[in-house]
This record gives sequence, C-alpha cells and structure tokens, in this order.
Amino acid sequence: MSTPLVHLAITDSIATVTLNRPDKLNALNGEMLARLDAIADELDRANDVRVVLLTGTGKAFCVGADIFEWSSLSPLEMGRRWIRDGHRIFERYARLPQPLIAVLNGYTFGGGLELALAADLRLAAAGVQLSFPEVKLGIIPGWGGTQRLPDLIGKSRAKQMIFSGARVDASVAENWGLVNEVMAGEELMERAQALAGEIAANGPVAVQLTKQLIDGGEMASLEALAGTLASYTEDAQEGVAAFRERRPPNFTGG
Ligand code: COA
Repeated sequence: MSTPLVHLAITDSIATVTLNRPDKLNALNGEMLARLDAIADELDRANDVRVVLLTGTGKAFCVGADIFEWSSLSPLEMGRRWIRDGHRIFERYARLPQPLIAVLNGYTFGGGLELALAADLRLAAAGVQLSFPEVKLGIIPGWGGTQRLPDLIGKSRAKQMIFSGARVDASVAENWGLVNEVMAGEELMERAQALAGEIAANGPVAVQLTKQLIDGGEMASLEALAGTLASYTEDAQEGVAAFRERRPPNFTGG
C-alpha cells in the first residue's frame, strides 16, 4: 500500500501529522486537504493524544497551495471550494483541543506558512525560509495569512512580508516572534518531541483549557466550557433528579 500524502502516527500520547509529498515540496492539493480534514476528525476525538506535531518530509515543510491545481479551477470553484475548504480545515487545526506545534523542517511558503500560523507554536530548523509569495503570482494569501500573520507579528512586519513576498530567514522569524525556537536541522525533531513530552506530562485538561483561554472568547468555546461547568453543579443534579421524580427542583446555587 502506498504511503498517504498526509500521514498520522501516534506514539505515547504524541501525534505526528506529516505532509508527505516531497517531490512537490509538500504543495497542498485537494487530496491532502481532504486527508488533513479527516485527520482533524481523528485528533478531535483522540482523548489519548495530548500534543500534536505537524511537519513535512523532504526539504520543505510546505510550499503552499498546489499552483497547478488551483489555477485550473473556475472562479466559483475557487471561492466556494478551494478557499473555503482551506479556511475551514486550517481553523480546525487552530481549534484542536490539544496544543499543535508546527515543526518547520524546510521551505514554509504561502499556504504552508498559513498552516504553520494555525499552530500554537512553531519550531524551525536553522536556515529555513518563510514567505508569502502570493502577490508575486498576482493573488493573495487567502487561507488566513492576512489575519493570522499580523496577529502574531504586528501589522507593520506582516505588511512587509506580504507586500514584498520576500523570504525571511528562520533567525529573523525568531526575532519577530514568528517562530518560537530555531535549531540545527538534525536536532529539530528531537527538540520537538522533547517539548511535546514536556507539555504532555502536564495536566491535559488544564493545558487544553489554557489554550482555549489564550485563544480568546470564541462563543462556541465559551459555551462548551460553561456547559461543562454547569452540568457538574449540584443544581444540575438536583434539576435532573427533580425531573425524574416529577417534583419542583430545590436549587441551592451550589
Ligand atoms: N504548487 C505546485 N507545485 C509546486 C509548488 C506549488 N506551490 N512549489 C513547487 N512545486 C513543484 C515544482 O513544480 C517542482 O515539480 P517538478 O519537479 O514536477 O517540476 C517541484 O515542486 C520542486 O520545485 P522546484 O521549484 O523545482 O524546487 P526549487 O528547490 O528549485 O525551488 C521553491 C523551491 C519553493 C523556491 C519554488 O518551488 C517555488 O517558488 N515554489 C512556489 C511557491 C509559491 O509560490 N507558493 C504559493 C502558492 S499559492
């Protein structure tokens, strides 16, 4: 059986998602997007997974959307399917319950950088280049880049990167706060696994709650937290007991 274009492996509560189309520098095609979507389903439900690593095989993390694929779409297909699928799937990765660490092993361009920006943290191998080359093709970073990049590094630097399309070296990216740490390529995966292990040893619910809190009060997250809290109160138990016993509830505020 051939290796899938995106691969999921789970070892000791750490999941590793690997973009695996090295001959095309892990450019994202429709099949890879669908596979990323299916893997997000799995990770969302995987209570045994505490940290997720996201990386690429070969000399690229990911060089963005597959230019040959999207350029053959009609404008309607581009808007309705390609761009919206990318938004939806990258948002799913951003909203995974577990911390997501992008492990940038090589070129991180365009949609690849947008995917990395959906992660909670980014580690990069020394010498890795990051860029948003879209304007060089006459298009825009359309999978969240114009929003997530300025959120992370500020409008001014984001504009510099996006307007120019110029490549930024990992060391500059680290200075800008675009990547958390830079290390020699040979040490990258070992360091990512050590950091993942450090996080995985902590209280998983506490870690996941802090992720939701830091990412801010999106209504759905707030509702999920509030719903969980409310369902564990004595009043909720009393309310259910009263319903079963066909009597009025005696709420105490506990
Ligand atoms: N979409 C589709 N295929 C891509 C691709 C992309 N975004 N980026 C690279 N590839 C393919 C190339 O066509 C080539 O395929 P081939 O061997 O069948 O011809 C293969 O990946 C290797 O790329 P190549 O350009 O030969 O490698 P390189 O090391 O000389 O250059 C880059 C690397 C990243 C500088 C260069 O590939 C590049 O600029 N890619 C486009 C990045 C981009 O614009 N991304 C935004 C897309 S919206």
